[in-house]
Amino acid sequence: MVAHTLVETARHPERSDRGSESDSSLDEIAQEKHNALVATLGHHGKDLDNSASPKRWKTFWTSFRHLAHLTPKEVDDFMASYVIYNLDWSDEKKMTEELGPNYQEKVGACLKSYYGVLNHLCALGDVEKMYIPPWMRPKTSVLDNQLLYERSIAHDIGLTKGKKVLDLGCGRGRVAAHMAQYTGAQVTGLNIDPNQVEQATTFNAERGLNNTFITQDFNELPLPFADESFDAFYQIQALSLCKDLPTLFREIFRILKPGSMISLLDWVSLPAYEPSNPEHAELMRRVKPLIGAVGTPTPESLEAALREAGFEVVRSQNASIDGLQAPLIDTVDVYFRTLRQAILALVKVHVLPRHFKTLINRLCLDGQAFVKMDRMRLATTSYSIIAQKPMA
Ligand SMILES: C[S@@+](CC[C@H](N)C(=O)[O-])C[C@H]1O[C@@H](n2cnc3c(N)ncnc32)[C@H](O)[C@@H]1O
Repeated sequence: MVAHTLVETARHPERSDRGSESDSSLDEIAQEKHNALVATLGHHGKDLDNSASPKRWKTFWTSFRHLAHLTPKEVDDFMASYVIYNLDWSDEKKMTEELGPNYQEKVGACLKSYYGVLNHLCALGDVEKMYIPPWMRPKTSVLDNQLLYERSIAHDIGLTKGKKVLDLGCGRGRVAAHMAQYTGAQVTGLNIDPNQVEQATTFNAERGLNNTFITQDFNELPLPFADESFDAFYQIQALSLCKDLPTLFREIFRILKPGSMISLLDWVSLPAYEPSNPEHAELMRRVKPLIGAVGTPTPESLEAALREAGFEVVRSQNASIDGLQAPLIDTVDVYFRTLRQAILALVKVHVLPRHFKTLINRLCLDGQAFVKMDRMRLATTSYSIIAQKPMA
């Protein structure tokens, strides 16, 4: 019953049709959300010093050097990979026309070229963990909102010392490191991009963490794990890259022990989005490449796919304060547009190679379209679902 109420509240939020809101009502909602968060996370929610992230300047320079040494082919492949974000898994005909009958393989190759460069571009800012988190606490940085969100996952899926958890699309293993340090759980991370897997392995080993990382495309099933080998599962913003969600969820169901909890955070279109509305369609066309989404599920389609696989949906809601992620998206956008000005100036005086201009121009395209789409409640990357594999 509680689960039902939460699912329904999320689907029909009172404020979902508002384009903007007064500062005072937002402050009230933010305060309520913050109180709930502190009640859930206790003192851990207040203390975010124990970050698994390294010193920002070191991360920045490591990625900067990597980007400076990209080959022309790596840059060309990165730019060409954007073709997949103009397509959608739901339109197989167009996929086949554009990429040929073995389109799944082609998408996989594009994802590798894209993420092999993108992870370094993102690391130039506060999104080394390549996701904009739910807006959970006002006047708090993107990085700290990420930490808060990750701690809420740990709580929701019951991570404790020794539990085995799978992180699908694990980025550079920074979330995994935070989870292990925060709870003592042991994380297995899975990623299509060997470059990120290598960084994740080194980063976690340097911290003496017993986490492991494997290179694997989650569109290539089965996953290399035995039945019922994990106690929990989470994924952060990787599902739009999954060709067949019901099949993937069935596979996740297989590898989890009965009673295990799972947490999903992802990109979905919301009820206000109308594909036949030209403004909505144009925003979608611009935002998908920016956030790197191929598919655009809805909350209902995600829930249906989970149920079809055997899961029980416990909670389904936008995890951001008042369903609004825009303040954090805007912060990231402003940062990267400022960085772009500096990069363009340095390219102009030949201090930086020309390909920096190509990369930063592509990265900075359409950030404000994302802010607008979020404010109009047309789509979000902060939709959260908690589900459970029933007890045997
Ligand atoms: C938008 S990022 C999400 C942020 C990520 N969870 C993190 O912690 O940085 C998507 C992640 O999923 C990985 N990924 C994308 N497609 C994949 C696939 N088909 N199989 C496995 N991993 C994939 C990417 O390499 C990237 O690390």
